Amino acid sequence: MSGNTTSEGAVVAPQIVASEGDRVLIFDTTLRDGEQCPGATMTFEEKLQVADCLDAMGVDIIEAGFPIASDGDFEAVSEVAKRVKRATVAGLARAGEKDIDRAGEAVRHAVKPRIHTFISTSPVHMKFKLQKSPEQVLELVGQQCRRARNWVDDVEWSAEDATRTEHDFLCRCVEAAISAGATTINIPDTVGYTVPEEYFALIAMLRERVPNADKAIFSTHCHNDLGLAVANSLAGVKAGARQIECTINGIGERAGNAALEEIVMAIRTRHDVLPFATGIEATMLSRASRLVAAVTNFPVQYNKAIVGRNAFAHESGIHQDGMLKHTQTYEIMTPESVGVAKTALVMGKHSGRAAFRSKLKDLGYDLGDNQFEDAFNRFKALADRKKHVYDEDIEALVDEEIAHMHDRTKVVALTVIAGTMGPQTATLTLDIEGRQQTVQAAGNGPVDATFAAIRQIMPHQAKLALYQVHAVTEGTDAQAEVSVRLEEDGRTVTGRGADTDTLVASARAYVSALNKLTVKRQKTAQAQQAV
Ligand code: KIV
Ligand code: ZN
Repeated sequence: MSGNTTSEGAVVAPQIVASEGDRVLIFDTTLRDGEQCPGATMTFEEKLQVADCLDAMGVDIIEAGFPIASDGDFEAVSEVAKRVKRATVAGLARAGEKDIDRAGEAVRHAVKPRIHTFISTSPVHMKFKLQKSPEQVLELVGQQCRRARNWVDDVEWSAEDATRTEHDFLCRCVEAAISAGATTINIPDTVGYTVPEEYFALIAMLRERVPNADKAIFSTHCHNDLGLAVANSLAGVKAGARQIECTINGIGERAGNAALEEIVMAIRTRHDVLPFATGIEATMLSRASRLVAAVTNFPVQYNKAIVGRNAFAHESGIHQDGMLKHTQTYEIMTPESVGVAKTALVMGKHSGRAAFRSKLKDLGYDLGDNQFEDAFNRFKALADRKKHVYDEDIEALVDEEIAHMHDRTKVVALTVIAGTMGPQTATLTLDIEGRQQTVQAAGNGPVDATFAAIRQIMPHQAKLALYQVHAVTEGTDAQAEVSVRLEEDGRTVTGRGADTDTLVASARAYVSALNKLTVKRQKTAQAQQAV
């Protein structure tokens, strides 16, 4: 690690260009490209929580959203711009004047504001998506960068679908963007099509052929459709790019973006072949991953590098034997280096507030007073029902608390009659903004009965696209973590619930998804009114 200080993180683009050092800027787009992926919508408050976490961990640039997309997006970007004190805050804009002005207004209160403006440059995008000729696009490149420079000094320009763009034309566009004031040039692999050697050659070609290339920082933005996003980004850095665009847990359009935690740990662990440095505090990676998984309700796959729950687990006898003899036999980095605490048996039902608060601190949580009280009460209830309460149990419980904090409708009580003598029936009480309602429903099994009861109180047409259960820890008294994904009119939302009772966890997950759907419907209605 570089041990970069805040002042290093605060270096503005032109100075970094001049330095040409080994420092790679980390541009996080979890709140924009990440939030764009189906089901990953975050509420206003959740976006602020994620922004605070990214700022605290040392991200250089936070792309906070796409301000023209909706009033909600605009407000979230402006609020992030106002509260973030260390990182640069970027807002995305297409090539239109309205887009750029909206982004400019949204970021103008930031200590370090950036406008990120883009346009497609590949033949297929220009012809079918933009329906413009290359000359018209080239004209717009200059116009969009000049317009953005009227608002801010720090302008990033992206050539959407750059990896499928004809080289001569890409060179002309990049040159025009820099001449018009862009200080960062982003070369997105929008469709995740490139491979490391090709991407290396592309960045090297641009740096060599574009006459004013030395006046800008080159940036990578790689999608993961072929599973090569991280490898491609690192190849780009080897070719001279000094900014990487990435997201926590690799969330993003389709197969996602390059995963921030993988980029950071690859550079740190293989410094011998990747002699670069980032300003990221790696011990916060695990916490950031859990936060993003909790607020997006997007579970992290078990074998996900760095932050998956199996990433540091050694199961086979041979591996365990090797680990006991020397940890380096099978561990190329320590769990502690990414903030994974050694799994420990924690408090039981006699533990008090002080012990619980200190445990939360160790796990990287900083809860407000009300949230702490709710989490503590749930911990006590869990400790009454579960013999051993592990760190993972507390994480699941607190993550759920965070995810449900702003839910308008909450599960109050659930009783289910199940077993071989059907029909299974569920009696359910929900609290809808302070008003309680109880119903009873029968179903084809206990989960079906529970969901039927929810549908009675919260009628909707959404399709259940996924229902998934997994155990947080081992043992028959383990907490179940349930994910529910719903689809309605092209909108996708995911809800998550955790409890030692699988049916209660299922009800919480379903209700949470419906809460998210309500917010999403309102957002769409607002956006339609604004048009
Ligand atoms: O993938 C892409 O091309 C993008 C641009 C808007 C940078 O997300
Ligand atoms: Zn993208």
